[in-house]
Amino acid sequence: MEDLMQKIISLAKRRGFIFQSSEIYGGFGSCYDFGPLGVEMKNNIKEAWRKEMTRNQENIVLLDSAILMSPKIWQASGHLTAGFADELVECKKCHHRFRADLLKEKKCPDCKGELTEAKKFNLMMKTFVGPLEDESSEAYLRAETCQGIYVNFLNVLNSMRMKIPFGVAQIGKSFRNEITPGNFIYRTREFEQMEMQWFCPPKEADRFFDYWLEARLNWYYSLGIKKENLKTYEVPKDELAHYAKRAVDILYNFPFGWKEIEGVHNRGDWDLSNHAKHSGEDLRYFDEEKKEKYFPHIIETSVGADRSFLAFLIDSYQEVKGGRTKTTKAIKEEEIMLKLYKSLAPVKVAVLPLVKNKPELVEAAKKVFQMLKIDFSCQYDETGSIGKRYRRQDEIGTLFAVTIDFSTLEDKTVTLRDRDTMEQERVKIDELTEIIKKRINV
Ligand code: GAP
Repeated sequence: MEDLMQKIISLAKRRGFIFQSSEIYGGFGSCYDFGPLGVEMKNNIKEAWRKEMTRNQENIVLLDSAILMSPKIWQASGHLTAGFADELVECKKCHHRFRADLLKEKKCPDCKGELTEAKKFNLMMKTFVGPLEDESSEAYLRAETCQGIYVNFLNVLNSMRMKIPFGVAQIGKSFRNEITPGNFIYRTREFEQMEMQWFCPPKEADRFFDYWLEARLNWYYSLGIKKENLKTYEVPKDELAHYAKRAVDILYNFPFGWKEIEGVHNRGDWDLSNHAKHSGEDLRYFDEEKKEKYFPHIIETSVGADRSFLAFLIDSYQEVKGGRTKTTKAIKEEEIMLKLYKSLAPVKVAVLPLVKNKPELVEAAKKVFQMLKIDFSCQYDETGSIGKRYRRQDEIGTLFAVTIDFSTLEDKTVTLRDRDTMEQERVKIDELTEIIKKRINV
């Protein structure tokens, strides 16, 4: 299974999905850059999440808060205290962290794995804002996007005249000085989160917790993740994060084990009541009907865009023994195919002239390419045999290949090949855009 990770990492680099950050300088501490196809695919994931969490739901609005915020926020949220500044060791195997001073032996108490050196450790990434580098200018890169939502609770409530229950959704970068990052983009120090905070009456928190957990599982299924590769994990009380009353993790069956990709949390009134206390602002909600004021409880759904990217990539990766396309002699033993769900595929259509040494064909193909790229993410490819080009496209999950051949010049039709069925049909150029739109439902 480790082998599969190597194949995924190599495909990701070879085909422009993900590169090691600062590679020409030997790389930089578990940071990664998203290449041309990686950006397309990650944007598709974020767009699918945004659509699901706003348009497909009632009463959820968007926010984009700053990464740099008042350090007082992190005092109030518990991120600068709450055990983060202890001498910590981390198990290199299961990533559980322990206070070094409380350990009886130099092995992980949970799995007996090897431990890192003890370190004064706070996960927050510190920086300085302004010309002075002293305590007064200290600030932090946010460690979770949701704090920006809590501190804007009143702004959103009042400006949008929201009524509880309602949600605020946000996508953005977060930073954590992880002791042991690893497994490619699974655990990094800079990552993107997609978080939604659902503000509700305390009595309804349990019901909404169940609603959101189910909704979030269904989102993965709707994007093609195999049911057998997802499961949930009820986090035991003694492992809960400092803010959580209840947490269920959604786990994906990665080649390196079942690991969390998303958390659904009942944060109770931890955040709003602490921010109220520290800021002096009254962050309670006034229920007009019941004439009562209370701190709404918060149900949070929190998923990493990068982690889910990795899960989607792995889930769609297929090796087809004996090859799918039988058009060249040099057929490889195995062909790689990314069976990405249609809305996630980074390239929707490839445009291929049958041969490149016929200027009329190339010219006609380029015209079709210009036409299609207005509506779809497209690639034009004229290099190599047509079989090889189909394979190149299958490898990045391209949904359709449009081939321009000699008949095109006569009757203005092209061949439309479907990635999944490999069926080819003759289609009029004039109807191509509408046909593809209909099939991918955009
Ligand atoms: N606001 C709650 C929160 O941040 P979390 O369980 O610490 O909860 C939520 O993180 C999600 O963010 C995780 O399920 C994961 O998808 C992503 N995430 C957290 N730390 C990460 C890291 N170091 N690298 C990549 N993704 C990470």
